[in-house]
Amino acid sequence: MDAAQAVILAGGQGTRLRPLTSTRPKPVVPFLNRPFLAYQLTLLRDHGVRDVILSCSYRVGDVRAALGDGRAFGTRLRYVVEEEPLGTGGGVRNAVDLAGGTVFVLNGDVLTDADLGAMRRFHDAHGSRTTMYLTPVENPRAYGLVETEPDGRLRQFREKPGPDDVLTTNMINAGVYLIDAALLARIPTDRPVSIEREFFPAIIAEGIPAFGWHAPAYWRDIGSPAAYLEGQLDLLGGRARTTLRPPGLASGGNTIGDGVSIDGTAAVTPPCVIGAGVTLAAGSRVGPLTVLGGGVVVARGARVERSIVWERAEIGAEATLDGCVVCADSRIGAGARLASGTVLESGAVVAPNASLPAAV
Ligand code: GDD
Ligand code: MG
Repeated sequence: MDAAQAVILAGGQGTRLRPLTSTRPKPVVPFLNRPFLAYQLTLLRDHGVRDVILSCSYRVGDVRAALGDGRAFGTRLRYVVEEEPLGTGGGVRNAVDLAGGTVFVLNGDVLTDADLGAMRRFHDAHGSRTTMYLTPVENPRAYGLVETEPDGRLRQFREKPGPDDVLTTNMINAGVYLIDAALLARIPTDRPVSIEREFFPAIIAEGIPAFGWHAPAYWRDIGSPAAYLEGQLDLLGGRARTTLRPPGLASGGNTIGDGVSIDGTAAVTPPCVIGAGVTLAAGSRVGPLTVLGGGVVVARGARVERSIVWERAEIGAEATLDGCVVCADSRIGAGARLASGTVLESGAVVAPNASLPAAV
């Protein structure tokens, strides 16, 4: 059986990714200067899935503006929109009129290079009706815990176990499923439904063939500022693989956009992605592991490393940034020191010589 379609769940509010999501919805936050979902669309396309349905409910206009009809990513992209959020199960159910056969379903905030073709072969070989990609994590309480039988059958699914629950596994639901679309008809349409808390536990209880699949691969949920930063550093460093290149030309381990102005005494230490129209002034140093969005200005003698900077931000003379996320149009005063964990909302203003995060 072939899975040539995918549904991507992209209707959450991205609360844990604030303040980044105050101005941009989570599915399209910039990721190496591309909208995040472009990485999922590329992974799907690389595994032969070129018909994708985006299940949205929140800030749909912004998502559509960033991804369009999908053609730029080699795929056909359609949108189904909820008037009120229907939950993860309701969001998939809502897309079912456009889907048939065996479909991939993805949480829209997962960065992975998993071999989806191998997952599909596993699904077919086991006569499975729904297969869940499982991955081990260090802190499973923040996720959906999944126990399997020795033959891979799902035994138990526990979404976000409480602090008193005894943990029996560190394998979690990675947020990538193969589902026989006929199974989705059972999801009610008149109320919000959680795929994790309702759909999967019911499938398991009824003995419908449902399996967990695991293979070594990169995996991360990018839904917090720290994970958003780390995910990009992993792509830059090659720990996470993708065939999607950042916009610009590859040069000496960096990617440099159009119309970039780099002073002869400035230095870019790879790997970095420098967006179009960036200005790097005399003596400034950028990298390693840094992404600058379009139009960013790094003033004289400033230093930026291990950081993500969105469009048009201005970094003052002699300022230093390490391990930061800076949203669009921020202005960082001269001599400011921004240490690891600093996250600036769009339009933030940092006073000259300030130190962040401020000591408590
Ligand atoms: N269409 C739609 N409607 N999408 C939704 C809705 C909704 O009402 N609510 C959430 N989503 C989307 C989010 O946009 C996101 O892409 C995905 O569903 C998962 O929601 P999260 O809020 O990110 O869930 P989580 O990270 O706490 O937990 C989920 O992912 C973990 C792996 O990262 C669960 O599936 C866990 O079981 C899993 O381990
Ligand atoms: Mg998530």
